Amino acid sequence: MAIERVMVIGAGQMGGGIAQVMAQAGIDVALRDVSDELVQKGIGRIDKALARLVEKGKLNADDKAATMGRISPLATIDKAAADVDLVIEAVAEKFEIKRDIFQTLDGLCPQRTILASNTSSLPITTLAAVTKRPDRFVGIHFFNPVPVMNLVEVVRGLGSSEATVDEACALVKRLGKTAVRITDMPGFCGNRVVIPMINEAVFALMEGVASVEDIDAVAKLGFNHPMGPLALSDLIGNDTVLSIMEVLYESFGDTKFRPCPLLRKYVAAGWLGRKTGKGFYDYKAA
Ligand code: CAA
Repeated sequence: MAIERVMVIGAGQMGGGIAQVMAQAGIDVALRDVSDELVQKGIGRIDKALARLVEKGKLNADDKAATMGRISPLATIDKAAADVDLVIEAVAEKFEIKRDIFQTLDGLCPQRTILASNTSSLPITTLAAVTKRPDRFVGIHFFNPVPVMNLVEVVRGLGSSEATVDEACALVKRLGKTAVRITDMPGFCGNRVVIPMINEAVFALMEGVASVEDIDAVAKLGFNHPMGPLALSDLIGNDTVLSIMEVLYESFGDTKFRPCPLLRKYVAAGWLGRKTGKGFYDYKAA
């Protein structure tokens, strides 16, 4: 089944990016968040991102207008849900919130509709189990910043059908990105590798091994990473990094995944990274 109409739930950093790349690929996107204000904010950010592409000569003004024309803000999900091929959820990493969203969608969407989560840490099998369609449920996990990062993990829950996984992979290809098929395990593959690396960098900072800048320089100059682990943590959100570490720690029951106390302290202080203007670096002046 070709996916032509998509609903994205969550208009933040990830949901907005997902809506943008879908619309750029010619797909109609309906965007919803908990309030109209958040949807408008998300659409404003997409407009700005596309305007930057026009400025750089990477997109023409007509294509920008056509892309924006494919994104519709949704006041409620009920009517639109009856007519979508795929819903992708990109809301906060709280099981209860996602459960309520998927149970509602399961009741509203036709049986053919694929329900997908962009979760970076919750098990796809557990989310699928709150619906009556685990075969039409899949993880479609984008990386941040969505418009730039090529990788998408397509995560097969225990009950996901082969056809659903194939359709998700075909969609990713249509977006110009590369799908990697992943079996549902905590942290999938990308986050299982990168988040403990970030956590270890925070331990190194806490233990006084080197300064923030020098720890990041090690990764940039020593491993050719485009940005250091502490700058990356600020980009992802230190709260998100902590919540993924907690999921890894609880799911595997292995102390190698214990979250660094300094990371907890930053989150407790509200030093969440770029989104709050302060994390390992200060963004207020920028
Ligand atoms: N949205 C859209 N485009 C963006 C962007 C954003 N938020 N941030 C940067 N870009 C674009 C820039 O416009 C620029 O485009 P051009 O080359 O066409 O001019 C390009 O990306 C490079 O940007 P910059 O020159 O400003 O800076 P940079 O070269 O340092 O790149 C970066 C920025 C792309 C973020 C790069 O540093 C990078 O790739 N960092 C690593 C990101 C990463 O590892 N992401 C994965 C995180 S893990 C995850 O997401 C999973 C999870 O579940 C938590």
